[in-house]
Amino acid sequence: MSGSSPRHIENLALVGFMGTGKSSVGRVVAQMLHYQFMDTDELLEARAGKSIARIFAEEGEPAFREMERALVSEMTEWKRRVIATGGGLPAGPSNLTSLRTHALLVCLWASPEAIWQRVQNQTHRPLLQDPDPLNQIRTLPEQRAPFYRQADVLINSGIRSVREVAQQVVHQFHLACTPVSRGEGSH
Ligand code: S3P
Repeated sequence: MSGSSPRHIENLALVGFMGTGKSSVGRVVAQMLHYQFMDTDELLEARAGKSIARIFAEEGEPAFREMERALVSEMTEWKRRVIATGGGLPAGPSNLTSLRTHALLVCLWASPEAIWQRVQNQTHRPLLQDPDPLNQIRTLPEQRAPFYRQADVLINSGIRSVREVAQQVVHQFHLACTPVSRGEGSH
């Protein structure tokens, strides 16, 4: 664990590549914890008044990344929220450091094949509107692995149902929020 800011885990952030189930798992986890569910892509679409695909097409990816960065900086005020983050958000400079100050970071991951199964019929992700989307699914997660690996917990979501993954996430969250016992007699 790195970073010098004090850490108060008030929220839970799900990070990971597209199609690993962050939003579906996040909704279930939020219900289980009685927390509010937030999805960064949905929030940014609502703010911009257009889809992510249109933000990329009309304003460019750097503008989208700046919107993500600004949103992340607002999250330091959030409490009792489950945050599903866009797949590229952890790669933004300082985003992970900021998230870590207030949220437990849980990374969902899955094999390229499992991701492909989930996303192949979807058209709303601009980075997969590529002549070779499977190649993107193989190379982009590798490039981002140094960021994803900084999460507190990594869970393979490709081999489990949404509910099973959600249960694991909640279990890890409770572990992280439980004060470490100092043992009997150590006063
Ligand atoms: C992106 C992932 C998308 C969305 C945008 C860019 C990425 O979010 O933020 O299309 O860079 O991996 P999901 O991970 O929710 O699909």
